Amino acid sequence: MSEQSKERVRGYGAGGVDTVISVDEVVRQTAAIAEEFSVEELDALANNAPYVTLDNLVAGYGQMRILHGINLRVGRKQSLCLIGPNGAGKSTVLHAIFGFNNIFSGNIVIGEGNARLDVTSLTPSEKLAKAGIAYILQDKSIFPGMTVEENLWMGGFLKKQPAEAKEAAEKVFEKYPQLAARRRHQAKVLSGGERRLLEISRALVMNPDVLLVDEPSIGLEPKFIDMVFEILNDLQHNEGKTIVMVEQNAKKGLEFADIGYVMVSGKIAIAGKGSDLLENPKVGELFLGG
Ligand SMILES: Nc1ncnc2c1ncn2[C@@H]1O[C@H](COP(=O)(O)OP(=O)(O)O)[C@@H](O)[C@H]1O
Ligand SMILES: [Mg+2]
Repeated sequence: MSEQSKERVRGYGAGGVDTVISVDEVVRQTAAIAEEFSVEELDALANNAPYVTLDNLVAGYGQMRILHGINLRVGRKQSLCLIGPNGAGKSTVLHAIFGFNNIFSGNIVIGEGNARLDVTSLTPSEKLAKAGIAYILQDKSIFPGMTVEENLWMGGFLKKQPAEAKEAAEKVFEKYPQLAARRRHQAKVLSGGERRLLEISRALVMNPDVLLVDEPSIGLEPKFIDMVFEILNDLQHNEGKTIVMVEQNAKKGLEFADIGYVMVSGKIAIAGKGSDLLENPKVGELFLGG
């Protein structure tokens, strides 16, 4: 690659750089660096004990196919981060796991060994209640006119008794005193970081096993970005959550996650340990700011 084209590819998605190339160009170049890998390799990355398993998933919106045969494996208490150009289908993978879109073929299975549950055709509510999967929405999902505690109670809407939701909310407040201090404030007065904490906390009210997290750092100041990754780190390593995330800040995402997948045009182009992708010069050029 010439010096000139190197300059041109520098910095996609990393922010704060001189040149940003077009999405089309990133798509072309990502497709060009795609590697061959087997499902066995994906299994190995998940320590041969996958807890979330996507097999040959073809999914999309309406009649439109966006994902063209996605295989994904993440072990219990592991984290996986999807990176890739805008429009690659990263959010669609999370939507498909949670049940927000159309699945044309393939399977989604949650659990290990004898406790494997095929959740491919469950609704989002069933996914949450039966398979312990929670989706943390990308921004604008909290109710600004409601108080912090009311927002948390909403997170427990699937509980049989409202009292159970309130009890679960108290546990969340014990864990995050920062949020407890604001419990009777309207959500609209929260800072960006507090709002993100509320979005994450609301998902925790149902005590899920699997967290689907779409761009947790988006729109946040750097100090809050670090806070969000500390929260996710605690949820994975101390609370034993399994995390599948999408992150535009590829460096942060790959530093955090055990496993990284690079997606392009509805397919997985590269799969590896997060730390290995961070060291991969081709990934670096395209997604880590050169
Ligand atoms: N609700 C929707 N209805 C129809 N098409 C959608 C919808 N959401 C996303 N898409 C399309 O699916 C493709 C992948 O989008 P998305 O998964 O959001 O990409 P990413 O998260 O990687 O940026 C894009 O072409 C996008 O236009
Ligand atoms: Mg997205």
